[in-house]
Amino acid sequence: MEIYQVIALPDPVLRATAQPVQTVNDAIRAQMKKMLDTMYAYEGVGLAANQVAILNRIIVIDTARRESDVKKPIAMANPEIIWRSEERWDYKEGCLSIPQMYADVERPKFIKVRYVDENNQVQEMDAGGLAATCIQHEVDHLDGILFIDHLSRLRRETILKKYEKMRREEGHVL
Ligand code: NI
Repeated sequence: MEIYQVIALPDPVLRATAQPVQTVNDAIRAQMKKMLDTMYAYEGVGLAANQVAILNRIIVIDTARRESDVKKPIAMANPEIIWRSEERWDYKEGCLSIPQMYADVERPKFIKVRYVDENNQVQEMDAGGLAATCIQHEVDHLDGILFIDHLSRLRRETILKKYEKMRREEGHVL
């Protein structure tokens, strides 16, 4: 099984804007599959194309695995959140591109997302709770937005300091 390497902060590709997919063809389907394989290998519940240095608007998620061993992979091209509930909630988020850092992020609790599926068909999906948070987190990635951007400046700087210290200790050049 071939997987991508997940890119970590501070790589600038994480701040880039991904471009719309024209057609979900074999090449895009192959990217979706490899992204799912990568997400499972890294034990994530979601992954966006920017995180594997591809600037196509593609995300993959599988939040079902938090509750069971059954895989329910979903791949979305051009995901667009077309409705957000006024009700909000907090969830402790992490990100494969900011390893080992977690923080409570407040977001709308329910959303509706429109996307193009692996068969190039337009779909709409209602999501709530963890799935809603996950989809919002991944769609943010396509616009170069990270979960830490939703925190207060003080909390963001605290996390970034901790992250940079950890990465330096691990021998990464920042
Ligand atoms: Ni992320």
